[in-house]
Amino acid sequence: MRIERQAALVVLGALIAALPALAAGAAGGGPALGLPPVPVPAHNPQTEAKVALGKKLFHDKRFSSTGEVACANCHDATKAFTDSPLAVSEGIRKLNGTRNAPTVINAAYMKTQFWDGRSPDLEDQALHPFLNPVEMGLKNHDPILKIVRKDKDYAGAFQEVFGKRGDAITMKEVTQAIAAFERTIVSGNSPFDRWHFGGEANALTESQKRGFDLFVNKGRCVSCHRVEQTQAVFTDGRFHNVGVGINAIQDDAPGLAKEFLKAQATLAEVDVRVLSDKRTSELGRFAVSRGFDDLGSFKTPTLRNIAVTAPYMHDGSLKTLREVIVHYNNGGVTKAGERVNDFLSGGIRPLELTDPEIDDLVAFMEALTSPEFAPAPAAAAAGK
Ligand code: HEC
Ligand code: HEC
Repeated sequence: MRIERQAALVVLGALIAALPALAAGAAGGGPALGLPPVPVPAHNPQTEAKVALGKKLFHDKRFSSTGEVACANCHDATKAFTDSPLAVSEGIRKLNGTRNAPTVINAAYMKTQFWDGRSPDLEDQALHPFLNPVEMGLKNHDPILKIVRKDKDYAGAFQEVFGKRGDAITMKEVTQAIAAFERTIVSGNSPFDRWHFGGEANALTESQKRGFDLFVNKGRCVSCHRVEQTQAVFTDGRFHNVGVGINAIQDDAPGLAKEFLKAQATLAEVDVRVLSDKRTSELGRFAVSRGFDDLGSFKTPTLRNIAVTAPYMHDGSLKTLREVIVHYNNGGVTKAGERVNDFLSGGIRPLELTDPEIDDLVAFMEALTSPEFAPAPAAAAAGK
């Protein structure tokens, strides 16, 4: 009897310990196979009601100047939270930005947000698209606050989640709710995870297994797209120049960089500049760090679900995974023999991969698609 009661207490204890993970909303409770626990900041704990509110805000088109654009336009759940196949995003009045929309899946694990890391976390990141003239086009956040303070559903939800109503609701609560929703957009459990972390020998094809070996060894991909002992987010969270975009403007890059420094833009201004001016966009991490060795550097993106989010790179300039690997194989230029840029990362050198090896690497990356984002027949085709 006593033992039973103790056992019951242990079970209860385990349940309570599991609660944060459950609240984090990862499918099935804890983190999915291949993922670490979702980091949740102490100042913004996850609750189910907050996540539901954030989801509603993420899909609300009224928060754009034309009433046409929500976060979900460019981060569409049916397109693995991107706007694939667009090369660069399309905001209000079909205005184009300069950059390819990264997926929001697993953005919760990123140490910084945006291709150049100009935003420190999801809460801060969510402030920017609303005001960007080529994205949601608002002059300030007031129209959003007006809606959430008046709208009956929102008023009830903000009261329930934050205990606030009317003028007490600010962008802090709005962005906290959006970030909480984004922390539930996590996905692992790909065929690669089942094979590598789950020990399922047949989850990958022989070609995909060879591809992983190339990814780790000859291709040296893993030095930036990290795979750890028990999980893999496929990024080192750092910034590298791999020879995309900057190649086209490299002779002008130092001049552009100096001009940029002279303007002394604030980070909010950087947000507008890099998304509305193609050449400034190519400065990459430099626009944030102002260090010349960051010219043309961008954040290492995750490779999860990469097969369903074409085209690739910060500017969407590479159309297929094969093109990406050929670019690396050439040592950081898209066409063999082109001039390498002066600021190229030391980690990028010609790889001498053979054609069948390139096929294997592509096959490996196709094994990184989580089941919930795999197009119906493709899950089966992975076993070809
Ligand atoms: C017009 C299309 C568009 C809209 C609308 C939009 N985004 Fe984005 N999003 C992008 C693009 C493009 C980037 C990359 C910009 C950059 O890095 O400079 C991005 C980057 C991000 C990132 C960073 C991911 C990473 O790995 O660095 C997050 C998170 C994100 N958006 C969430 C949101 C949220 C939340 C909203 C609504 C408040 C939103 N986006 C609205 C296109 C859009
Ligand atoms: C020196 C670090 C580094 C190495 C090594 C590296 N990558 Fe990358 N990878 C990056 C960075 C940084 C980007 C984004 C670059 C940009 O957009 O300008 C990227 C982008 C990508 C993308 C496009 C992702 C997207 O969302 O658009 C793919 C696919 C990719 N890498 C695969 C590979 C493969 C395969 C290898 C090995 C052959 C490799 N990478 C080696 C840093 C690296």
